[in-house]
Amino acid sequence: MNYYELKISINPEMEDIISDIFFSNFDCEGVVLAEEAYKDLEMTSTTRGTLRVFLTSFPQNLKEILHIERELLKERGFSDEELGSWEIELEEKENQDWSKKWKEKWDVTHVTDKISIVPSWLSYTPKENEITITLDPGCAFGTGTHQTTQLCMKALEKYMPKGASVADIGTGSGILAICAIKLGASSAYGCDNDPTVIDVCIENAQKNEITETTFELNTADKITKKYDFVCANILHNILAEIMGDLKNVMKPGAQMVLSGILDEKKAVVFEAVQRFNLRVVEILHQDQWIAIVVQN
Ligand SMILES: C[S@@+](CC[C@H](N)C(=O)[O-])C[C@H]1O[C@@H](n2cnc3c(N)ncnc32)[C@H](O)[C@@H]1O
Repeated sequence: MNYYELKISINPEMEDIISDIFFSNFDCEGVVLAEEAYKDLEMTSTTRGTLRVFLTSFPQNLKEILHIERELLKERGFSDEELGSWEIELEEKENQDWSKKWKEKWDVTHVTDKISIVPSWLSYTPKENEITITLDPGCAFGTGTHQTTQLCMKALEKYMPKGASVADIGTGSGILAICAIKLGASSAYGCDNDPTVIDVCIENAQKNEITETTFELNTADKITKKYDFVCANILHNILAEIMGDLKNVMKPGAQMVLSGILDEKKAVVFEAVQRFNLRVVEILHQDQWIAIVVQN
């Protein structure tokens, strides 16, 4: 069977969000950011990169779907420059073991000295005190390579008390809930408003031999329980919109990491943090992204 390789010009910062569009709308088996943009730090700070998308069937209505998704992202506040041009090239390719080729691109991601993400096909021996999260790149958002996810993991490592109950709002692949348990949380609850990710989360928890996580389709406004630590890696304008609901999920004195915030968009989130009387504990930075740790 032949396959289709689509190349799309994107801003590398948007890799996970744009990849998600292909996984949700087409028979997409994997994506990879062109190597020069992926490996070269200087390139990742520019707005130009090429995402290679591997599809097992011809992408029907490609242009229409991309147009709609782009408009939706623009409504959410992303500018054309932030998104990249989305110029596309589509090529039919003779079958070859592309999945093997794709896998060759991936390696262990060391997020901190203590936390590493390991693709399930690699064998890796962790150092003493190192925790590893087994995840396959390219499923739901949250492969561990995105800055917004890494900022949350750094905050979990630094601020989450041992034995904490953790809520992960917008859980994606479940990576933060899994990370919390591996860092010593007693339980972690992950929810997402996208029904397609819940099974992926459950599979990922199983892959990591974790039983202390629960995942469900839900949003913060419907949660009645309160938690010791909360993660919310969602786009800046959504964070601002649901800040009151996020605060309701926190126990008194609990801390929360807010991520998914481009530095230039942070004002709207800070305004909501202030409006709900949350105290800023630390602002973490990675490339053009920030995460804000707040306390109730
Ligand atoms: C940027 S991804 C984060 C995934 C993962 N937590 C991570 O850190 O890599 C954001 C996730 O939030 C979900 N989401 C968006 N708006 C939401 C909302 N209002 N309530 C719950 N989940 C939401 C999306 O479906 C997506 O899976």
